[in-house]
Amino acid sequence: MEIFKKEVLAGLQKSHKTLSSKYFYDDEGSRIFQEIMDMPEYYLPAAEMEIIERHSQVIAQKIAGEELDIVELGAGDGRKISHFLKVLHPFVDHLTYFPLDISQGILEENTKLMAKEVRGIKIEAMWGDFFISLPKIRDRKTRRVLIFAGSNIGNFKRKEAEEFLQFIDQELKTGDNFILGVDLKKNPRKILAAYDDPHGITKRFNLNLLNRINKELGGDFELESFDHYGTYHPITGAAESFLVSLKDQKVRIGDEVILFQKDEVIQTEISQKFDLPLLMELSKNVEFRIDSIFSDSSSLFSWVLFRK
Ligand code: TRP
Repeated sequence: MEIFKKEVLAGLQKSHKTLSSKYFYDDEGSRIFQEIMDMPEYYLPAAEMEIIERHSQVIAQKIAGEELDIVELGAGDGRKISHFLKVLHPFVDHLTYFPLDISQGILEENTKLMAKEVRGIKIEAMWGDFFISLPKIRDRKTRRVLIFAGSNIGNFKRKEAEEFLQFIDQELKTGDNFILGVDLKKNPRKILAAYDDPHGITKRFNLNLLNRINKELGGDFELESFDHYGTYHPITGAAESFLVSLKDQKVRIGDEVILFQKDEVIQTEISQKFDLPLLMELSKNVEFRIDSIFSDSSSLFSWVLFRK
């Protein structure tokens, strides 16, 4: 059985039902996510962009050298990083950019944009799961900066986040850097609004996952019978998204039947928000250390520069 179906069924057969957020991003999901990024409540992209505009120069001076590999995990279309690379380029004679992503389409957009915006750098796109791609270029002698931007680390469970940082540690040599984008704890209303917007875009995004199961796995979810529910806990820093069953119902997925009670939930996403104690805690078992932290003017978001 294909892995998507296996994971969906396993998640829905648990006592607390779950669906993995990595399946949000089919073509329609990616399109709705663009709408999320454009809505005023979703402050994350603009805050990260402000960091790049304000601090690229100083970061570039800190990581400059004759030769440098910039390896971006989950690079996406590269729109934001292109601004960083533009500032960095004059500080490095031989700059190679490795965008790593699971979507081939987005990698093509990335390399096209990068070749146009940042002339004269080398681009080596790598398509696939970065846990597999990154070790393939481990033997390069060049000093490297790994980048994991966009607060994507917030979508890992705690144990996964710790394991991810250990994986990064293995891929860094002494003197290498790691730049981690993290969304910060802040006024809980602001965070909640970003994940539970009044336009219903986040709701459509969440429901699209059920629609995808209908289309690709032969499901019969009635989208009107589910609602979106977002929460934020100001102490743990977890923003969590759920789908709520609005009635007792039976849903068929291929040959399987899943029962829902009225008001039963499916957990679909966790977006962890960070502060310094949490970052220290997560990185206590790795060899790289915080060098500096760069934030936007409203302290919504940070780029954490680590050095090994
Ligand atoms: N991973 C993104 C984030 O954590 C995507 C996202 C935004 C999201 N809003 C959402 C995922 C709502 C699920 C539900 O910010």
